[in-house]
Amino acid sequence: MQFETWTKALAELPVDCVAVGVHDDGELTPEAKTLDLRCREKLSRLMKRGDFSGKPGESWLVTDLEGLRAERVLLVGLGAKGDITRKAWRRAVLTALSAATRTRVTSLALALPRPAAKVLADERLGRSVAELTGNTLYRVNDLKSAKKPRPHALNRVVVAASAKAEPAVKKGFAQGMALTAGSTLMRNLANLPSNVCTPTYLGRAAEDLAKTHKSLKVKVLGLPEIKREKMGCFLAVTQGSDEPPRFIVIEHRHPKAKNAPVVLVGKGITFDTGGISLKDPPLMDEMKFDMSGAACVIGTMNAVGELNLPLNVVGIVAACENMPSGRAIKPGDIVTSAQGLTVEILNTDAEGRLILCDALNYAKRFKPDVVIDMATLTGAIVVALGVHHTGVFSNNDALARELVDCGLAADDRAWHMPLTEEYGEQLKSNFADMANVAGRDGGSITAAAFLGKFTKDLTWAHLDIAGTAYQGGAAKGSTGRPSALLLEYLLRRASAR
Ligand code: BES
Ligand code: MN
Ligand code: ZN
Repeated sequence: MQFETWTKALAELPVDCVAVGVHDDGELTPEAKTLDLRCREKLSRLMKRGDFSGKPGESWLVTDLEGLRAERVLLVGLGAKGDITRKAWRRAVLTALSAATRTRVTSLALALPRPAAKVLADERLGRSVAELTGNTLYRVNDLKSAKKPRPHALNRVVVAASAKAEPAVKKGFAQGMALTAGSTLMRNLANLPSNVCTPTYLGRAAEDLAKTHKSLKVKVLGLPEIKREKMGCFLAVTQGSDEPPRFIVIEHRHPKAKNAPVVLVGKGITFDTGGISLKDPPLMDEMKFDMSGAACVIGTMNAVGELNLPLNVVGIVAACENMPSGRAIKPGDIVTSAQGLTVEILNTDAEGRLILCDALNYAKRFKPDVVIDMATLTGAIVVALGVHHTGVFSNNDALARELVDCGLAADDRAWHMPLTEEYGEQLKSNFADMANVAGRDGGSITAAAFLGKFTKDLTWAHLDIAGTAYQGGAAKGSTGRPSALLLEYLLRRASAR
């Protein structure tokens, strides 16, 4: 996919299709008027007849207008007149892109009105166009045996930019393409079934990154090395499974980066049956997505490598299955984490926090500036926030606020959840330093509080993505979230350097 800018006359653009906006009262935007004058006002007559509503989300394809270089004009509904908001702009861009991909258009010019630069900066405009294109073109990596439908024809998207804005827009294109590559990798990994996407498979996917990006160094630990690291909690979760675990470390170093690294940690449960505390059958298939955090870390490291960000970033993934078996952990079992704290496993379905506590402890050896973990950790976060916001927990309010802000800016929203001492107290155990569960109340917070016991000396945030990383129902599949939020955070750090 190619992204370009143009500064010249719209009617002369060498593209298959030009997308222009129209309002619901039939009025044309200035760009649409320019074309209209060239094609003897066919567009305004069409609008007057009222065939096209001009409502947001709707579009109308007009072909073979005389006087234009493009064979097609796509009218995109903008709704009422007035300043266009960022949300309305994204909707219009998405409408244009998805309409174009339903045709054989190969090159599309987006001549839509844009929000003011202080609402949508040039760089972000470029990034969003590339990101939205990537999302529109994404096709689920299904394993259907029928012949694949014809691929999309679209391979070039052109956006208007003043000569002054051009460099920023182009920089944004590069960011958006890296984001697309990363979130596509995440989605493809997460969508795979657990019999294909095993911990071993995730390890190979990480190793593949090092082949394409010079800045990335990858290390994959197997069972003996994990034992040597005394990751008792991680080992406890994997012990019931025949599938060998993997502990994956991906390092991006940049010669110009002076700061301590950002460490990203991902939950990589390639299938969560619940273990001996077995889950109910309904929707259990969705537990193949329980490695979404891991997939996001791998995808984000891909983006970091692609952009060769002037930062030090480390990605850590703990990957295994959670299975019931004769060797599986049982409720009441007590194990010792790598940090030395003992944990009474009251519920084997609360396995995410067990693998993460050892991964978070491992992160300490990088003397990180910031550690951010992401995990499909609790059903309780879905009850609390639904599927629209990722839950943010942190032992540092400034970091939490920054992540929430990044989510807003990147259209990948997150919400700051409380994490005060009381929640940690609920994890008391009679027999060990702590239990791995604390009852139903505030379930997503007590899960975060469990992790908090292992991150006291870190600046740390935890993203609970159980509601946002994938969707169920007819469009079942990975969403790629929170890749955009994370890349926004890393890009900000890179430019603040
Ligand atoms: N992977 C699940 C969390 C989950 C649930 C993700 C639903 C996506 C959708 C996690 O390992 C889990 O089972 N958590 C338990 C914790 C409980 C036993 C304290 C849960 O949420 O029920
Ligand atoms: Mn579980
Ligand atoms: Zn789980």
